[in-house]
Amino acid sequence: MTTTDDPSQTGARRPVRPAGAVPAGDGPALPAPSGWFCLALSRELARGAVLTRRFADEDVVLYRTRAGTVRATRPYCPHMGAHLGYGSTVEGESLVCPFHRFAFGPDGTCVSDPDGVPLRTRVNHFPVLERNGFLHIWNGRDGEPPAWELPAVPGPQVRPTAHWAVETDTHPQEVVENIADFRHLGTLHRLAVRQLSPPIADGPYLRTNLRSNAGRIPFFGQLSWEESTLMAGLGWNLTELELPHYGLAVHLWGLPTPIGPWRTVLRVAAACEVTDPRRVPGLNLPAVRAALTRAVARSTLRMTARIIRQDVPIWDHKRYEPRPRLAAGDHSVGVYRHWARQFYPPGPPTGHDPA
Ligand code: FES
Ligand SMILES: [Fe+2]
Repeated sequence: MTTTDDPSQTGARRPVRPAGAVPAGDGPALPAPSGWFCLALSRELARGAVLTRRFADEDVVLYRTRAGTVRATRPYCPHMGAHLGYGSTVEGESLVCPFHRFAFGPDGTCVSDPDGVPLRTRVNHFPVLERNGFLHIWNGRDGEPPAWELPAVPGPQVRPTAHWAVETDTHPQEVVENIADFRHLGTLHRLAVRQLSPPIADGPYLRTNLRSNAGRIPFFGQLSWEESTLMAGLGWNLTELELPHYGLAVHLWGLPTPIGPWRTVLRVAAACEVTDPRRVPGLNLPAVRAALTRAVARSTLRMTARIIRQDVPIWDHKRYEPRPRLAAGDHSVGVYRHWARQFYPPGPPTGHDPA
């Protein structure tokens, strides 16, 4: 498996349905949810660089200023409509359009025109959050500012050392529903999993706790572990795998981003930290520690990608069921569906409630 953040390099799947052909039961299709969504890794955007990414069927132009601040804007220049992702330059703290070289400053206003007085216009920036080596933008309802933050875990210094991404014909809500759908872990993935507690919802956050014997890690063999997943909206979740016997903890990010109607790129990344160096000989030596934690992160990511590859054909071909006929053992899915409603506009029924 290639560990990379570029879906085009990872066997990314081509659409199997025409865009917009969304089988959605008897209800309307889900729109792009509100919340924070990852568009890139920090290292993809050097100082002075400009990058175009897809979000909710539109381009978003990301750039990093000379001082290191990341900004994200809608793609079209308000002067005469040039696409700012094609040929723009970063000069100091401003983004300069390639067509007539109007410059847009930190708050988006036009700050210079090479031929005279700056035009009274602006580009609209998305709120941006750079956290743990990821770049997230805020998608607010009707342009509302961020209503909540991403959780401050696993700590500001932690950076993933392994990445992978895949595209799939589905919606982030369907991807994240996998975490609440414990039942499929046994049937589709053949994982022996026990739910330790029902999901706990707290505003835009939802936490689940499992015990799993999910797989093998180099040097350690078959492991069982406790894992807790914290979801923050539908675009960010973090699973913490605790391996206290070995003095290690693995952080596993799942970052689904809607790039088009019923089309999602799912970025997955892993980092491993030593929690108790006395557990494994040599872990107090920096070189050994770095090599081992990288190997464990990479192996965990590889195992996770293997599991996700089993989900992808399901996601690519299933239809969205607004009112699934949930069984007694599907309680967590009902909790999840109810929690997920907050990320869509209120108003006409969108059919999220289980029957
Ligand atoms: S179109 Fe951007 S400066 Fe003219
Ligand atoms: Fe799954």
